[in-house]
Amino acid sequence: MKLLDQVALVTGASRGIGKSIALGLAAAGAHVACVATREENAAEVAAAVRALGRRALAVGCRVEDAAQVAAAVERVEAELGPVDLLVNNAGISLPQSLLKMTEENWDQHMDVNAKSVFLCTQAVVRKMQAAGRPGNIVNIGSILGRNAVPATLGYCTSKAAVDHMTRVLAIECAKWNIRVNCVAPGYIRTELIDELVREGKLTLDAIEKRTPQRRMGSGTDVAQAVVYVASADAGFMTGSVLVIDGGWNAYGYF
Ligand SMILES: NC(=O)c1ccc[n+]([C@@H]2O[C@H](COP(=O)([O-])OP(=O)(O)OC[C@H]3O[C@@H](n4cnc5c(N)ncnc54)[C@H](OP(=O)(O)O)[C@@H]3O)[C@@H](O)[C@H]2O)c1
Repeated sequence: MKLLDQVALVTGASRGIGKSIALGLAAAGAHVACVATREENAAEVAAAVRALGRRALAVGCRVEDAAQVAAAVERVEAELGPVDLLVNNAGISLPQSLLKMTEENWDQHMDVNAKSVFLCTQAVVRKMQAAGRPGNIVNIGSILGRNAVPATLGYCTSKAAVDHMTRVLAIECAKWNIRVNCVAPGYIRTELIDELVREGKLTLDAIEKRTPQRRMGSGTDVAQAVVYVASADAGFMTGSVLVIDGGWNAYGYF
């Protein structure tokens, strides 16, 4: 078990990729605080972590709200112990074309996808640094942090920010023995994708044809990368962006 008895805090852990990450970390031996917008949303995943024999906590917290983030970290440390690993996974994607895009749409993406990384990382790193404990931060970026697709100005820009925040945070935190990396998934079948398909903004067929491995990814594909990045196996890795996308990013044709 690569992460035996470590305490992990995973944001956006009620479903989708975050749920897979929470369960993947538990299978690797970690105790997991599962954060979602409301505590009850994360309760089922916390129960699934407990069923794997690990300790778990469901926490309600809007990750773009500094006061809620500080309170969540206090509660996790009081109930599970000092946080060893933070996974900044919570995110939203609300595509709007440039001419129709609202200021609110921009702010929502930047707040939930990017500002949250600053707030959650600062709150957790303050604790690690004060206690003199080593730690790991894993940010969930996206292939759209470096590749552009239309009508995604808010999403792509916020994910590009996550990539670059990873590098800045990594060099600042290295002196405290805290590693900061990013896992950047390609298209992973989750509710976020299903909603875009329902709205006619994506088709599953187009994604699979565009992906050299001819399939969408699973939450487990991402979770296994997170376990690796957070483990001692990746001890000399910091400031890196690890792409998990079935070859989508490498492919030059349509
Ligand atoms: N799916 C993909 O193909 C894909 C590809 C690349 C990157 N990603 C990234 O992977 C991450 C997870 O995506 P997903 O597909 O698993 O999304 P999802 O199925 O829509 O799940 C989103 C999660 O984020 C939580 N969340 C949303 N807004 C929040 C807020 N303001 N405060 C706290 N929690 C919040 C949700 O909690 P509630 O249940 O309480 O709403 C939920 O747990 C995101 O950062 C996304 O950008 C996804």
